[in-house]
Amino acid sequence: MASRVPEVSSLISEAKSAFLATFGEEANVAVSAPGRVNIIGEHTDYNDGFVFPMALPLVTVLVGRQTKSGLCRVKTLTDHADRPLQVEFKPPSPSTPLKPTTPSWANYIKGVVANFPGVISGFDVVITTSVPLGGGLSSSASLEVATYTFLEAITGIKAKSLKEKALACQKAEHDFANMPCGIMDQFISTMGKQRNALLIDCRSLESTLVPLADPSVTFVITNSNVRHNLSGTEYPVRRQQCFAAADIMGKKSLRDATLQDLERYKTSMKEEVYRRARHVISEIQRTKEAVCLLEKGDYLTFGKLMTDSHHSLKNDYEVSCPELDELVEAALEVPGVFGARMTGGGFGGCIVTLVKQESVDSLISHTLQKYGGKPTFYVCVPSEGSQLLSV
Ligand code: GLA
Repeated sequence: MASRVPEVSSLISEAKSAFLATFGEEANVAVSAPGRVNIIGEHTDYNDGFVFPMALPLVTVLVGRQTKSGLCRVKTLTDHADRPLQVEFKPPSPSTPLKPTTPSWANYIKGVVANFPGVISGFDVVITTSVPLGGGLSSSASLEVATYTFLEAITGIKAKSLKEKALACQKAEHDFANMPCGIMDQFISTMGKQRNALLIDCRSLESTLVPLADPSVTFVITNSNVRHNLSGTEYPVRRQQCFAAADIMGKKSLRDATLQDLERYKTSMKEEVYRRARHVISEIQRTKEAVCLLEKGDYLTFGKLMTDSHHSLKNDYEVSCPELDELVEAALEVPGVFGARMTGGGFGGCIVTLVKQESVDSLISHTLQKYGGKPTFYVCVPSEGSQLLSV
């Protein structure tokens, strides 16, 4: 059985009760921001390429209120977060800027506070989430974007544009979580739309909604429930290798390179750098093609591109792991499955599978039979980006 996605209303009630119990007052603001699944276009965003994610009904919710206390008091209800689960800090001033410290979960909030354009007099807030932590579904971006949305609500100061909001949240992750991520996760968490995936051009930051409205097919996320430690250290290495490859070819980024360019320069670069670039250049091409195929309803070829993407991530980019490979293999054995691939940064987390609606149950039972670990399944409905909710 696929996991039940908790209702946003129940997350709000849970957070409101905790708020009252913790701070002795009622919360008067509630916001949410979603996690995401990337359908295709992996490790292309920091190469100025294309990505194709959708926002999930799994969300991070913040409830709270503005105060004049000169303190930001934050409590998380997420049991898996590092201790302590409650922190307080002073809003930044020119003489005392905010700095990342422990616990690590609070750095996402501090990072957004530090990058928010308005003055903050203080706030109390409670956080809860249905996005699995560290599962490759962007729990961190959803926390950043929810925090920004909360600050907009309590101060009445809005980002000049949604792009500016996403960029401020990305900067929070770079500076306070030490993760040099691309723009995909913050962008889709801010701009996702119900019933649509979003094709994002990560160079121009222009985006196009692509309807996912056919009831006969669906995307299923399978969480391997494993996370290897490599994810934090290998990401910046991949990024550097891509920049090095572009540099050798005299290109601004790998977005500007073709596979022919790459072949021409093959002998001037390390074999590993060559393979990293081959993944990115081919993945950008696959993503553009895949979106056209989806628009035509050609699921067979679309699914094949998803599976090609997985193999490229596994063999050339080397960011998969045995558990993800096992899950993809199991999925591809099921009649009615069009394609499957790892999704997100890699080294654990989830795969995403395009499957006929009528075959979802067989996909789940076959995976449970074949996969050695304990997977979790989500049947995905493309959902809204960040929102102000009624309390
Ligand atoms: C992580 C990053 C994204 C993106 C993906 C890989 O999720 O946060 O910016 O680079 O990895 O596609």
